[in-house]
Amino acid sequence: MFTTTELLEKINNHLAGLKFTRQPQGLYEPVSYVLSLGGKRIRPVLMLMAYNLYHEDVENILAPATGIEVYHNYTLLHDDLMDKADMRRGKPTVHKVWNENTAILSGDAMLVLAYQFMAQCNPVYLKAVLDVFSLTALEICEGQQMDMDFEVRKDVTEAEYLEMIRLKTSVLLAGSLKMGAMLAGATEEDAGHLYDFGINLGIVFQLKDDLLDVYGNPEVFGKNIGGDILCNKKTYLLIKALELADEKQRRALDFWIDADTYVPEKKIAAVTALYDEIGVKNVCEGLMDEYLIKARAALSAVNVPSERKHALEELMDKLTIRQS
Ligand code: IPE
Ligand code: IPE
Ligand code: MG
Ligand code: MG
Ligand code: MG
Repeated sequence: MFTTTELLEKINNHLAGLKFTRQPQGLYEPVSYVLSLGGKRIRPVLMLMAYNLYHEDVENILAPATGIEVYHNYTLLHDDLMDKADMRRGKPTVHKVWNENTAILSGDAMLVLAYQFMAQCNPVYLKAVLDVFSLTALEICEGQQMDMDFEVRKDVTEAEYLEMIRLKTSVLLAGSLKMGAMLAGATEEDAGHLYDFGINLGIVFQLKDDLLDVYGNPEVFGKNIGGDILCNKKTYLLIKALELADEKQRRALDFWIDADTYVPEKKIAAVTALYDEIGVKNVCEGLMDEYLIKARAALSAVNVPSERKHALEELMDKLTIRQS
């Protein structure tokens, strides 16, 4: 069995060896650019880890693991355009280095490339894997649309938020684990438990991402801080702040949400101060703990010796306290 670091090294080496030699360069350069900026590679690593619960020949699934990471990077190109985000992994985003059309079209090409990589998996599992991948990709679009719809609403509930992040974030972590298990010939039950583990882990992961968007260190996080506040994203922090605010705090929150023109730094500072006053960071961390318990339960139901699952438990703990 491989360590998480070894699996990360394998996928990173494989990605570093990819060459996009087709023309025109203007289409493929941004693809190489975003893939060269690193990132945590957690989705392909989760796929390899799930496979490695059952088999040692992880090289066998490096192509679909690559497909997952290329797909994830495609979502980032489009997401950064939709979120008007200028920084990603400590570098300017594709629509800043090039332009918006490039982010759209190179993103489209990456989605197709992702399918090409996925299609290189063991033909025995091809149809089943592509079915999971396609449903996952569609659900992510659904989650992203909900995320955009919620920007212009103030009455988004906690349940609606959780469903939105399940779709935009969790299903890709869950799908990566499930496809890794399927490619290893795992039982449907095990693949299902790994999927549930990924769903709950993904909720924790997105809650942490929302926290870092406010409280992270931009040098380490690699993204500009306060982007969610500027877009009026209905993060858990904002939903809870709206819910727990007293009258004066509610008026202040409404003022910043409704403001058409403002100095961005001022809005970020004011809303962050309100979050601090209302105490929503702790509430958010409390919810993360609840989902960590659910994730642990799902993982423990996977029918392999518990020592083989330590690496996944460790990764879950690391992602919970991550700063990037
Ligand atoms: C960013 O994903 C998008 C979210 C779902 C929050 P990651 O935090 O995994 O980004 P990279 O790939 O490590 O840069
Ligand atoms: C992540 O949402 C969802 C997808 C990229 C599909 P965010 O918009 O919070 O991700 P970041 O913060 O830009 O990485
Ligand atoms: Mg974003
Ligand atoms: Mg987004
Ligand atoms: Mg975010």
